[in-house]
Amino acid sequence: MSEGCVADPVARAKGRGREGAIRSPSPGRGATGRSYQPTDRLTQADAAVNRRGGRAGRAAGDAAPQLAWACIMTIQTDRLTLRAWRDEDRAPFAAMSADPDVMRYLRALPTRQACDQWIDFQIKHFAEHGFGFWVVEDRATGAFLGATGLFKVFFDAPFTPAVEIGWRLARAAWGRGIATEAARASLAFGFDTLGLDEIIAYAAPANQASQNVMRKLGMIRDEASDFDHPRVEADSPLRRQAMYRLPRAVWANASR
Ligand SMILES: CC(C)(COP(=O)(O)OP(=O)(O)OC[C@H]1O[C@@H](n2cnc3c(N)ncnc32)[C@H](O)[C@@H]1OP(=O)(O)O)[C@@H](O)C(=O)NCCC(=O)NCCS
Repeated sequence: MSEGCVADPVARAKGRGREGAIRSPSPGRGATGRSYQPTDRLTQADAAVNRRGGRAGRAAGDAAPQLAWACIMTIQTDRLTLRAWRDEDRAPFAAMSADPDVMRYLRALPTRQACDQWIDFQIKHFAEHGFGFWVVEDRATGAFLGATGLFKVFFDAPFTPAVEIGWRLARAAWGRGIATEAARASLAFGFDTLGLDEIIAYAAPANQASQNVMRKLGMIRDEASDFDHPRVEADSPLRRQAMYRLPRAVWANASR
């Protein structure tokens, strides 16, 4: 259950400053041979940050200028578009979040308001950090398929600061490699554009589909870092989380 998978990040964010923004995207580096194509141009603000200093190997918690990101990168893969949230995504996101199969290992979003707040938090996260959960759209039809992306871990743990990757798709989109394809593009963005040193993911141990995605991405199981999620009730089967890690060097090797 990664990302703001669990989360109630909205509550966590209240009163929080814009600390830890990741700076200096570097679109010129490009992706590592993957089917990944950032299609938006960077803003002047982004370019100014680039001029101020490099991108190499930043951790999620590094001190950084307090930026507002005025544009959100749109990414295209063979079958998908990863794009910014629009108002028309709210209804399909709420429908997806009302499906018990989808929400089995995720924290419930029981009302339309809770769904809207989840989306609002993604929009805020993009504005503050330049990344978040993108909408995953079918490139051929424009249909809403779900959400995938990167997210700053919003609670304190031995492994924070950290950036995690997560995914949630509408039931009809499962079983076609969509999560893996969207995640690969997200990882390429995280490593090649944001310059992260590591991206983590975690899931409830019973969530084998999600862990299969992690393994297919080349993420490494790190049992020593399994943890009890501090934002999940003590008696919940979702409290224990299995940790996977993807160091930058492993990603780079796998991408050759
Ligand atoms: C997890 C999820 C995003 C995977 O989406 P997807 O597009 O079907 O994933 P992919 O097809 O890329 O890969 C899934 C892999 O797990 C396998 N799998 C699917 N369901 C499985 C299950 N119940 N048990 C074991 N393996 C399973 C698939 O066969 C596939 O592996 P393969 O390619 O080797 O055959 C999707 O199931 C989902 O949205 N689940 C609900 C939300 C969720 O749990 N998010 C993760 C929170 S941590």
